[in-house]
Amino acid sequence: MSRSAHPAGPRHADVVPEGHYSAPPADLNALDTKVWAHTVGRDADGVVTVGGIDVKRLAEEFGTPAYILDEEDFRIRARAWRTAFGHDADVFYAGKAFLSRAVVRWLHEEGLNLDVCSGGELATALSAGMPAERIAFHGNNKSAEEIERAVRAGVGRIVLDSFQEIVRVAHLAQSLGKRQQVQIRVTVGVEAHTHEFIATAHEDQKFGIPLAGGQAAEAVRRALQLDGLEVIGIHSHIGSQIFDMSGFEVAAHRVVGLLKDIRDEHGVELPEIDLGGGLGIAYTSDDDPREPHEIAKALTEIVSRACDAARLRTPRISVEPGRAIVGPTAFTLYEVGTVKPLDGLRTYVSVDGGMSDNIRTALYDAEYSVALVSRTSGAAPMLCRVVGKHCESGDIVVKDAFLPADLAPGDLIAVPATGAYCRSMASNYNHVLRPPVVAVRDGEARVIVRRETEEDLLRLDVG
Ligand code: LLP
Repeated sequence: MSRSAHPAGPRHADVVPEGHYSAPPADLNALDTKVWAHTVGRDADGVVTVGGIDVKRLAEEFGTPAYILDEEDFRIRARAWRTAFGHDADVFYAGKAFLSRAVVRWLHEEGLNLDVCSGGELATALSAGMPAERIAFHGNNKSAEEIERAVRAGVGRIVLDSFQEIVRVAHLAQSLGKRQQVQIRVTVGVEAHTHEFIATAHEDQKFGIPLAGGQAAEAVRRALQLDGLEVIGIHSHIGSQIFDMSGFEVAAHRVVGLLKDIRDEHGVELPEIDLGGGLGIAYTSDDDPREPHEIAKALTEIVSRACDAARLRTPRISVEPGRAIVGPTAFTLYEVGTVKPLDGLRTYVSVDGGMSDNIRTALYDAEYSVALVSRTSGAAPMLCRVVGKHCESGDIVVKDAFLPADLAPGDLIAVPATGAYCRSMASNYNHVLRPPVVAVRDGEARVIVRRETEEDLLRLDVG
């Protein structure tokens, strides 16, 4: 995941600190549109604005740290996916990236479906009015209670992940007098080029049923015999933060190969395939993600070519982007608390959040960008590490980035592209309170997930 080191930046040229950094950008005040949401810019005073509101006002009104989400940007991205895939395909937003009731309503309005993977996500989706038939229920170990709730609610599909689950869902559905539509999740044996913890299609991991050794075919064989199930398709998700389409291509070919084997053995053409999510976004200016229309074109062509070759009717395709929709829509707004230069190394900039609001840097060695947002500065670039307030030296938000050398306590800085897997993976480590999510649009800001309070923490601590 790391970029090449470059010797520019440290204050003593003879010592080159280890890190991910590349050369400082030509203009530290510029905001690269690749990593910032659509409506982000600077006003005449140099203060960053989003949705027509400046970050100083947001900080005053809502405090820091806070996730600031550009609703217009979310809707534009959701719509772009929907439009790119058209009416012959379905887009399921992956709720694990970030889910709240407001988000569910936006998705509903923009015509997207929703992928949930726990009872909590299901409850959020239903409570915000997402029609159950537009929900897909995922997970490698759904509890009996979760399965029952999903079946009773009438979710559109349950994605089955193991032999045990095939039987469990079938029995439950049957006992409720229902026939549940299901897909079977397979692992296609693709090595996605991403961090080990977020790659999911190689065989040595917990998700799905391997195509290898005929296991997936056996799973389909069993599922087809059970009255409580209606097998509607095959599911494959190869991993996350992927830029290279070749993994999807191999996955699609292998899934179509299975559809052909199923047709040959059972005389049944399954009507759907789901190719999962996983499309990468730009966290830094070095990343070059694909646009939804390119992805849609590539995936639909791959599937229809493979189906033509196998003389199969082209199934309905679905995809499950999470990060690619919500990731770029939000930034985390922090206040600088301390600035600590370490001679010959780098400057440690401590902010009022940290690994509790963004675990991705510590967990995946993820890279982020950062900018001074409460003002512009003409000062020279300074190599910084943005760290949090937690009692752990791995508490790093941005490993290496350049900020202006006159950065001072009280400045506001923002880390873009934190819409996905930051609030949803946030913790209370050190009893730090999880930040709010503030949605902005057309000059209005509203809290869609409120900041945690100490009362919230103490309410769980029952003594
Ligand atoms: N579909 C399935 C079945 C998934 O497991 C996932 C993600 C997605 C769709 C959505 O993937 P996306 O388009 O968001 O990449 N916490 C990690 C990512 C874990 C992804 C888990 N599954 C991270 O922060 O990078």
